Amino acid sequence: MSERLPKEAYTTAAWFETESKTVFGQAWTFVGTTHDFAQAGDFRTVMCGADRLFAVRDKEGRLNAFHNHCRHRGAELVDGENGNCGGALVCPYHRWTYGLDGALRGVPNKRECFPDLDRTELGLLPAAVGVFKDLVFVNPDAGADFETWIAPLMGKEWPHDLSASDIKDAVPLVYDMKCDWKVYVENAIDGYHLAYLHENTLGGPLPGMNEWERAGQHMIWSATEDGIRHRLPQKIRDEAGSTGMIESASTPGYGGVYYLFPSTLVVPTPYGMSVSSLQPVSAGRCRMHVRQWVGPWQSTDERAYIPGYDKASGIISSEHWTKPPLETGDFQTEDVWICEKVQRGLESPAYRHGPLSQGAGAEDPIRWFHETLAPSSHH
Ligand code: FES
Ligand SMILES: [Fe+2]
Repeated sequence: MSERLPKEAYTTAAWFETESKTVFGQAWTFVGTTHDFAQAGDFRTVMCGADRLFAVRDKEGRLNAFHNHCRHRGAELVDGENGNCGGALVCPYHRWTYGLDGALRGVPNKRECFPDLDRTELGLLPAAVGVFKDLVFVNPDAGADFETWIAPLMGKEWPHDLSASDIKDAVPLVYDMKCDWKVYVENAIDGYHLAYLHENTLGGPLPGMNEWERAGQHMIWSATEDGIRHRLPQKIRDEAGSTGMIESASTPGYGGVYYLFPSTLVVPTPYGMSVSSLQPVSAGRCRMHVRQWVGPWQSTDERAYIPGYDKASGIISSEHWTKPPLETGDFQTEDVWICEKVQRGLESPAYRHGPLSQGAGAEDPIRWFHETLAPSSHH
């Protein structure tokens, strides 16, 4: 078996469709934080490959997850990204009514229309839900085992505390990217490019000064020396002392980026944290939803300063860049730029994979990523 996914994995509709079942149809996708589900009826929706799911808090305080369609004729039950559905889930089509535990409770005119219907057989299709450090994940496969997936991260340093009272929930961001989701992951776990592509922003660290560590299917990145040029002014560190995040995020050896297979990136910034969740859209196209939590002295809405932000659609994309990406001073823009360039290269008929560099602070993590994908998506 080749150590690499073939280029078709990044470019063809056939691979995309298989993968949305074999990878995302069985994967844990970030849906929100426990703080998003404060009240009974609070829900959030998410796409996991082709599956549309939602998580909802029930009246007993449990978090449940379901496939977002009615068991009658399939109408989508809850709308939008989030909301509160009250004490029950009512389908707008024929008003079948489900409890927040998914049980089918009411069928209008049941005696005339469905004399033999057994309500116990038509509860909402369950999905799986799991919580790790306030982060809520859902999985289309109701039998999926969250403990096994998350176990390798137990006991690892985790420099994020969303219960800190002065952390503010910032406006979420949506990036529309003309690259396969795997191209984005491979860039995010590539320690080889940091000092080159990001010379003017992150400025490093060099391959020998950063390291990815495998943790089951996941990976944790850290700078192994004080190799990051980008530092916080002392004044901000002093003001931020109460959050506890500053010290941890700037301590060598402490995890800087957490990649949770397949689609979640958790990044402690020196000022807070972010969770990015990748969604495949089609072959060669993906979206990334970014949630951010910031310190008390920071604005919760920085969208106007993000290169490529389009106010009308609320989407960030290269189509709306107004200056050359390498002149923006924004490393995220540099990453989007390079991922879209890589995608165009992959789609070129003459393209063949070149060699990957050696090393946990270089491109070994891409090999590990492909190993993890291999059992489900190698053909
Ligand atoms: S589709 Fe939901 S009640 Fe008919
Ligand atoms: Fe990067």
